Amino acid sequence: MENDLKGKVAIVTGGASGIGKATAILYAEHGARVVVSDIHEQAGNDVVAQIKQKGGDAVFVKADVSQARDCEQLVNKTIEAFGSLDIAFNNAGIAGEENAISDMSIEGWDRIIAVNLSSVFYCMKYELQQMLKQGKGTIVNNSSILGSVGFANSAGYVSAKHAVVGLTKNAAIEYSRKGIRVNSIGPAFINTPLLAEAGIDDAAKKMLVQLHPIGRFGESIEVAELVVWLSSDKASFVTGSYYAIDGGYLSQ
Ligand SMILES: NC(=O)c1ccc[n+]([C@@H]2O[C@H](COP(=O)([O-])OP(=O)(O)OC[C@H]3O[C@@H](n4cnc5c(N)ncnc54)[C@H](O)[C@@H]3O)[C@@H](O)[C@H]2O)c1
Repeated sequence: MENDLKGKVAIVTGGASGIGKATAILYAEHGARVVVSDIHEQAGNDVVAQIKQKGGDAVFVKADVSQARDCEQLVNKTIEAFGSLDIAFNNAGIAGEENAISDMSIEGWDRIIAVNLSSVFYCMKYELQQMLKQGKGTIVNNSSILGSVGFANSAGYVSAKHAVVGLTKNAAIEYSRKGIRVNSIGPAFINTPLLAEAGIDDAAKKMLVQLHPIGRFGESIEVAELVVWLSSDKASFVTGSYYAIDGGYLSQ
């Protein structure tokens, strides 16, 4: 158990599963009090229970991050529960519709932009308002390797994730002098339930693994380690950056 986040309060959106779940648990192991947020109440409460079982402190707040009002409430409920907001990991996301651009539905496009991009703007807007009051804070936004390169039949996802990188840079320019650091991360393929949602079966996995020079997909805990470091004071000179965590995917 490390204590480098002791006294800090952290929000994790999409905290009920995958990368968000691993990060929520690791934040708590580093001493932070954690607000686990998701649309899935049962799974979110299970993560809270897991944190408490290990001696940590956490609450669950239900929020659909595609709704601005929910993001505002998430920050308000964090302050009600723990009195401050020091760290935010804007992580919730979906795979969304997979189609070539000419075949993609308008609804599919609107949905992925709402969940994977507008959500990050909504969450940051309210998180930053609170962090400005406190005069400090750190934010990490979960982009993807697809925030840096394209991927066939994923125009909505790729566009949203590129925009998350841009939004992060802008936030860093606007808030770094006010004590708030903002960074994004770019994971390659990570073993989480999102892969099944994206229709990646064993055959597809075999092919996709080849795109990773390291020869495997990543694990959620490996991404969580990077997020916790970026969120901590150890990363005090890091802001506006995009950190690939990709087993070499983008090196080719
Ligand atoms: N798994 C990968 O290969 C991979 C790679 C790069 C980036 N990412 C990104 O990592 C993030 C987390 O994905 P994951 O792989 O852990 O997936 P996951 O499906 O395991 O977890 C995503 C969580 O987000 C929640 N969620 C979905 N829509 C939501 C909404 N509208 N409001 C609130 N919560 C919502 C889900 O309920 C789920 O608990 C996503 O932004 C994803 O795009 C994943």
